[in-house]
Amino acid sequence: MSQIIEVTARQGDPAETSADTRIIGLFEGVESGIEPVDKLVASGEVKASYKSSGVAHAHGKRFLAVGLGKVEDFTTERARVSGAVGASAAAALGAKSISWISPTEGDVAATAGAIVEGTLLKAYKFDAYKSKDDDDESSGIEQLEIVADDDLTDAVTAAAIGANAVNAARDLQNQPSNVATPSYLADRAAAIAAETGNIEFDIYDRQWIENKGMGAFAAVAQGTIEEPRLIVMRYNGAPDSDAPTLGFVGKAVTFDTGGISLKPSGKMEEMKFDMSGGAAVLEATGAIAKLGLPINLISIVPSTENMPSGSAIKPGDIVTAYNGKTIEIDNTDAEGRLILADALTYANELGADRLVNLATLTGAIIVALGSTYAGLFSNDDDWAAQVEAAADSTGELGHRLPLHPEFAELIKGKYADITNAPAARKGSSITAAEFLKNFVGETPWTHIDIAGTAWDLGRPYVGTGASGFGVRLLIELARKHGQT
Ligand code: BES
Ligand code: MN
Ligand code: ZN
Repeated sequence: MSQIIEVTARQGDPAETSADTRIIGLFEGVESGIEPVDKLVASGEVKASYKSSGVAHAHGKRFLAVGLGKVEDFTTERARVSGAVGASAAAALGAKSISWISPTEGDVAATAGAIVEGTLLKAYKFDAYKSKDDDDESSGIEQLEIVADDDLTDAVTAAAIGANAVNAARDLQNQPSNVATPSYLADRAAAIAAETGNIEFDIYDRQWIENKGMGAFAAVAQGTIEEPRLIVMRYNGAPDSDAPTLGFVGKAVTFDTGGISLKPSGKMEEMKFDMSGGAAVLEATGAIAKLGLPINLISIVPSTENMPSGSAIKPGDIVTAYNGKTIEIDNTDAEGRLILADALTYANELGADRLVNLATLTGAIIVALGSTYAGLFSNDDDWAAQVEAAADSTGELGHRLPLHPEFAELIKGKYADITNAPAARKGSSITAAEFLKNFVGETPWTHIDIAGTAWDLGRPYVGTGASGFGVRLLIELARKHGQT
């Protein structure tokens, strides 16, 4: 809902800018060469320590100094945070256009991209439902220019596409569940396809899901009068390539009440965010298509509400998944794995060779890893390492947790092949992953549990509320995949 910031890269004299505010990153003990700023540093009025900022005025211009800390401690993540520090300081000053002199330490293109990301992510707000005050005229930063010796156009443009996709995912997350229904997400997929012009999509309804034999997905959807949707998007950016086709799958439960195994009411409103994995997959797919990355991709988003009702599934019910396995539904609140089961089987059937799924799957992952790491689970070390590397480079960190036959043992069913919720709560994020593993066959697959990171991430550039976690990770994974 926040306005799009126009982002450009420029080579040449930093002083020749039309921006109302120039931002200069300061490393500790290194002169910036911008006299008014260096004077303030010398007098101690402005510090170069990481996350600090200060303002100087000279020659009718406004200079905003942003502390980058020590050169040897500088990372892309620090550049992202510094972009956010600059954005909030500039916005507080009423700046409309900012010109960042890109720091020359390290990977210049990566640093510039991270500054763009930090700025755009920090500037995001969701105020669609707040009545406007008459004197509320400030609409924030409208333009961002990155100035450097090198031509950083590609890096800066790509970073802006990625950050805008994250913000679009945050919009989907933030919409309440009475607006962001499964059909709303399907409409968004159609809109993304129309915007990019190079995505094919199919949208399936309840009747199709039932007729197809997706008994696990249909079981969750049977409790709600809201129509479920299975959203399939295909992007063929490398039609002649025989490289593996990527398959992205995202959980999109637009509201998770727990069903008959009803959740407690405290914080239940946060369960509108239970579609965060699906939102990330939709928007990442759009960004990948906009960037024209040379890869082939199938993205699948199963979407439904999880409601208690006269038609809802009940604990003990047994259903047959699309791959023929029977599932005992012992807890109707373990619904995410049910809809993902059939979506993963379908992704495999449609020809995905490398699977990644994103899901707000278990409360236990929040206990284990907080909001610092998402949980990674995989049946393939190489594929897991690629996902982990992408996560590292975008700052959407993932920490791998193990699978083990003893956990697979725990999800064996009493009356059916498997149960969706073992009685023992032992390793419950892992047993959830073991459940999903039953539906990926031999395909290399990585499951990312984002229950702790999809909102209230707490990073300086996202803070509280929806984070759009995973969007940049998926784009980066696709970008790297296209280089091999
Ligand atoms: N959507 C929840 C997981 C969740 C909880 C995400 C809190 C974010 C914050 C998921 O559908 C769920 O309810 N999982 C249960 C599984 C259990 C019943 C086996 C859980 O984690 O408690
Ligand atoms: Mn649930
Ligand atoms: Zn859920």
